[in-house]
Amino acid sequence: MIKKLLLKFNSKKFKVGVIGLGYVGLPICERFSRAGIEVIGVDNDPNKIKILKKGQSYIKSKKLKNFKYFKNNKKNLSINYKILNKCDAILICLPTPLKNFKPDMSYIFDCAKKIKTFLKPYQLLVLESTVYPGATDELINIIRQKKIILGKNFFVGYSPERENPGDDQFTYKKTPKIISGFSKNCLNLMDALYKNIINKRVKSDDLKSAELSKLLENLYRAVNIGLINELKIICDYLRIDIFKVIDLASTKNFGFQKFLPGPGLGGHCIPIDPYYLSWISKKKGYQPKFIPLAGKINTMMPSWVVKKMLTKLKNRKKKILILGVAYKKNVDDDRESPSFEIMKILKKQKISFEYNDPYFDKIRKGRQNKIIKQSVSLNKDNLKKFSAVILVTDHDQYDYKFIAQNSKIVFDTRGVYKKFNFENIFFC
Ligand SMILES: NC(=O)c1ccc[n+]([C@@H]2O[C@H](COP(=O)([O-])OP(=O)(O)OC[C@H]3O[C@@H](n4cnc5c(N)ncnc54)[C@H](O)[C@@H]3O)[C@@H](O)[C@H]2O)c1
Repeated sequence: MIKKLLLKFNSKKFKVGVIGLGYVGLPICERFSRAGIEVIGVDNDPNKIKILKKGQSYIKSKKLKNFKYFKNNKKNLSINYKILNKCDAILICLPTPLKNFKPDMSYIFDCAKKIKTFLKPYQLLVLESTVYPGATDELINIIRQKKIILGKNFFVGYSPERENPGDDQFTYKKTPKIISGFSKNCLNLMDALYKNIINKRVKSDDLKSAELSKLLENLYRAVNIGLINELKIICDYLRIDIFKVIDLASTKNFGFQKFLPGPGLGGHCIPIDPYYLSWISKKKGYQPKFIPLAGKINTMMPSWVVKKMLTKLKNRKKKILILGVAYKKNVDDDRESPSFEIMKILKKQKISFEYNDPYFDKIRKGRQNKIIKQSVSLNKDNLKKFSAVILVTDHDQYDYKFIAQNSKIVFDTRGVYKKFNFENIFFC
């Protein structure tokens, strides 16, 4: 029977279900459907289901712009998990946020409890979400039941996602994907499944190493960004241009990878995942030192950039325009964005501010989703109304020359203006 499932995966004659159609799940649906495989999608947000059925996408990305699969296959989309009962493979792409600096696994584990009733022999269940080592085993314990024998007639795998939203150069052809399985059979099935959409699969013969490898990838970034952010502060004290230093060091053709300083971290991965590792490490008896330190430095960056800005503005009347609320350039994702932290600080100090972001025409807050601000358009008259502009997100869409020419002063937290020669730019 495992051969039958392998054959299905190899011949593309199978159904793949995806739970959670967000930044990870939706691109996966697009890829499987493009490979000619039947896709079933489940998301608990009825609004997202409605949008997808219209053939639109709530994620602004080139690849998803013309994604019409669910418009043409409306029956394959639902808020109800039951629709997955005929799937040969089920991929869980649900959020794994933090709650009081501890992993909030409720999305995954609640989902496991719900799908348990209709899981059946000869299915492959895959976790794609970022988790701590041991989480897939906990998921397995939830779904265990008489009718399925793990590794024999029911299969489980873990494969962390390497999606890079906003990066149009990112392709699954170039990016290898880690796959792992509960057993050898599981791993073979994982390989056959992902072969349909990924050119290079990298096998891990255990689940925990694969789980930890994803945390390492994000921790590596968090720590290096923390280091370069701290160097930015040191350079400020030493009156040395950090960007010049980075350019010089980057000429080393071995053992150095370039990281750039910024206004702080954002997104659903880098600010969150290190805490997953800290939590499990602490639970097992070791209190990490390095990991929380990087988090501390990255977290203090918004207040550092605001302090620099206000010191420079001194007693001038302050009305600030924040450029960008997305957590990084060219994405419509504002989760954990440092812009919100900057807004909070300004609000606390009773400094008036507005924002612009081509990806967010409004920002909303609270359960009622109340609109709290609307994006200000970037025309000459508007720019002149502000005492300063602070560049937080370096979207490619911005006309940087125009902004500098029409603003009184620009505080650049990203180093974009290094290639220009304007006198009203202040790096912070
Ligand atoms: N965003 C990224 O770039 C990225 C990259 C690699 C890994 N990850 C990881 O992948 C996982 C998913 O992240 P994401 O960015 O896609 O999250 P997301 O919030 O964009 O997507 C999650 C989706 O799940 C839906 N959902 C929530 N609860 C549900 C439920 N109970 N049942 C069905 N649907 C439900 C939401 O409506 C949403 O559409 C996380 O673990 C994240 O850390 C994200």
